[in-house]
Amino acid sequence: MERIVIEGGFPLKGTITISGAKNSAVALIPAALLANDVCTIKNVPNITDRDALFDIIKWLGCTIEQKDGIIKIDPRNLKNILITEELSIRLRASYYFMGVLLGKYKHVEMYFPGGCNIGSRPIDIHLDGFKTLGAKITKKGHKYILDAKELKGNEINLKFASVGATINIMFAAVYAKGRTIIKNAAKEVEIINIMDFLNNMGAKISGAGTDTIVIDGVEELKGAEITVIPDRIEAGTYILMGALLGDNLKIDGIIPEHNQALLNKLKEMGVDFKISEHSIVINKCENFKPVNVRTEVYPGFPTDLNQPMSILMTQANGTCVMEETIWEKRIGHYPYLQKLGANIELDGNKATIKGKTELKGTDTNATDLRAGAALILAGLIASGTTTINDIDYILRGYENIILKLSNVGAKIKIEQI
Ligand code: EPZ
Repeated sequence: MERIVIEGGFPLKGTITISGAKNSAVALIPAALLANDVCTIKNVPNITDRDALFDIIKWLGCTIEQKDGIIKIDPRNLKNILITEELSIRLRASYYFMGVLLGKYKHVEMYFPGGCNIGSRPIDIHLDGFKTLGAKITKKGHKYILDAKELKGNEINLKFASVGATINIMFAAVYAKGRTIIKNAAKEVEIINIMDFLNNMGAKISGAGTDTIVIDGVEELKGAEITVIPDRIEAGTYILMGALLGDNLKIDGIIPEHNQALLNKLKEMGVDFKISEHSIVINKCENFKPVNVRTEVYPGFPTDLNQPMSILMTQANGTCVMEETIWEKRIGHYPYLQKLGANIELDGNKATIKGKTELKGTDTNATDLRAGAALILAGLIASGTTTINDIDYILRGYENIILKLSNVGAKIKIEQI
């Protein structure tokens, strides 16, 4: 077993370079199977979610070459066999194989996907979209079998602007006959990255990044190349660390406007930072003003930065409210923040956080990916030593986080227990 050990209170000085976006990469990798030839994906982050997807792709008979974040996927020997439950449940993004294999082969057999424990995480919006395109869905326990004589373009109005469903329906629609229009589509920037990849293969898609996406089905998709965009959630996590401990901390290789909602809130709190074209330099804020945050779909405040942001709220001079509206259970970190000394009252998905409280290091557990990230922020500012168990959650989504933080002065390490 491993755990993270942090000695709190050290300033963060130097440069952190942001990796490719997890939530882009985990869709781009399955998307490569839609092509009829080798695809190249650049700037893929070295995270365990990537490895879980590689295992599924190899299970399906495809070959993968990888070197320094560049991967080449050859789908030409793909065998469309059952994706086992063991493989399906390793991550949420395994559900993208549904759209890809249904779109290309009109048949897919796999199990309900996995993912962090932040809610029930249904996939009904995905399945409704597939049905609207003509798929028949059979469910046997946790196993799903999707079949279609043919897929025909249609208008699909999402009951919620689901990121995964938007992308998955795009995958199923690229080979459908005729035009598919996705309304109330998710507008997250990662979806533009996926549209670009599919269009590089020869797909005919427009509108990603808006609430209406149009896909005109094509007969074939050739091998193509794409570069993963920077990870705005990783960037936001380090920006928040800079607001707590930065000494001219530079976060490099980002697209600042992807973090606009966070930056607006930090400005409201009185945090000082300087934005350049691909980076931000941020300094420790000595006097955080209290703010209220309500998570929303893009471009609103991202749900994935809810937990890291709550650490700043414990340091604000006054009362803040963090309200989660996307996931029903993004609250796993609160008991540990209280154990660290935070003053938090939880009412369902709304946390009232009274600051400023001094956090004292203690033993904690990561309950999900972003809860784990939040505990790292807490440990970096807490007095004394903070330990974090169940760190596999964290390693799913943050490439080289221990190295990146050690390189800018954090006293953080992984130890065997
Ligand atoms: C993606 O999850 C991200 N994961 C999540 O990031 C992120 O929190 C989420 O989008 C919202 O931005 C990946 O991209 C792999 P949704 P996804 O479909 O696609 C409900 C992280 O920390 N819903 O937009 O699963 C759902 O229950 C992860 O990196 C249905 O009801 O999110 C939730 O309440 C966590 N039925 C809401 O919609 C469905 O069929 C948002 O889900 C699908 C979703």
